Amino acid sequence: MESYLLDWANLLVRWLHLVAGIAWIGASFHFIGLDLTLEPPKDEKDRAKGVMGEQWGVHGGGFYHKQKYLVAPPRLPERLHWFKWEAYTTWMSGMGLLVIVYWIGASTYLIDPDIAALSPGAAVAISIAVLLGGWLVYDTLCRSRLGEHDLAFGIVGFAITVAVAFALSKLFSGRGAYIHVGAMLGTIMAANVFFVIIPGQRRMVAAMHEGKAPDPVHGKRGKQRSVHNNYITLPVLFVMISNHYPMTYGHAHSWAVLAVVALAGAVIRHFYNRRHVGRTIWALPAVFAALIVGLAAAIAPPGTWRAAPRGGEAPAFDRVRAVIAERCVACHARVPTQDGIAAPPQGVILETPAQLRRWAAKINEVAVVRQTMPAGNLTEMTDDERRLLGAWFAAGAPVD
Ligand code: HEC
Repeated sequence: MESYLLDWANLLVRWLHLVAGIAWIGASFHFIGLDLTLEPPKDEKDRAKGVMGEQWGVHGGGFYHKQKYLVAPPRLPERLHWFKWEAYTTWMSGMGLLVIVYWIGASTYLIDPDIAALSPGAAVAISIAVLLGGWLVYDTLCRSRLGEHDLAFGIVGFAITVAVAFALSKLFSGRGAYIHVGAMLGTIMAANVFFVIIPGQRRMVAAMHEGKAPDPVHGKRGKQRSVHNNYITLPVLFVMISNHYPMTYGHAHSWAVLAVVALAGAVIRHFYNRRHVGRTIWALPAVFAALIVGLAAAIAPPGTWRAAPRGGEAPAFDRVRAVIAERCVACHARVPTQDGIAAPPQGVILETPAQLRRWAAKINEVAVVRQTMPAGNLTEMTDDERRLLGAWFAAGAPVD
């Protein structure tokens, strides 16, 4: 009952998180693209008003004419659209998901006793410390001299992020470590909006209402944070989908895998940023491809490049069925009996011969080759049993 309701909470909050995230990242990509494709205003009158760039666009059956002012227009319009709730909603729903999946479910998803036998309380405390600490360190660096040099800042920021990923991989489960790197970076992005970008814009607007010229330092600070957010976006999005891919977070050096993919994401972001201003650097997608292909080759499980062994004598199907019943069915049943599992994970049910046949290749992959199942080897499957399943699959997975 409780885990069923949690599944619903999970679904609804994840849905919200996804929608808000699309709105936030979408608006952010839109404004970056806009900024980079502005042209000097054609009309002298616009120039005299302080317009520094304009863009004409066509979308959804209408024509749009957007203009950007150097600092601010001479007079503010009555209605000004702010872009902030997308960011706040994404962060709040993300925190909600973190609580539902990784705090409430700490002993399943966050803690791996083979890595560190943390208590749930200690794991949650580390989780909070990472999110808070990440922001404090980042914000301090932004305000230091380092903050003035984008490239140097990027290198140092990347090194720190990899160090955090490394430390977390010694404390949390693979998934838990990954999501905390993502949550830390996502928190930095949202906090940039909340603590720096929006307050700066508020001060600029307030100054104008008082008839004073707004201080351009606010614009400069906001721009610095928004450039950082731009490069962090793709790595964060990778982390958010990574829990579908145990080959990444489940690798013995998961932190290094994360570092390579994050770097590839930032590289491809840079490609688009340059391309928008008419400087297409084809070396960048080549670097991206080299990083990803190199990584895929480097972390391939043993035996990937060899054809799977086929043939051999099939073990008696009754023995195969008994192993699955004992080691898998507590979770993978129409009505699971395992605590905390309300529905068969990923829809995989392993009760009837037809179901075993249908899932045979996947069973071989997760229980024999990768050995990521049974989850946490909770049901204590033995190596002999894995070999038995492997022999069964190799012989063509007969079910009679
Ligand atoms: C303690 C519960 C539990 C047990 C026992 C268990 N599983 Fe799973 N299984 C899960 C969970 C949870 C997932 C979903 C993992 C995820 O979403 O990352 C899963 C996912 C899977 C998947 C889908 C993976 C994919 O990549 O599509 C397969 C196949 C699978 N399990 C097979 C097995 C087999 C075979 C066994 C027995 C050898 C087994 N499981 C034992 C909990 C369990």
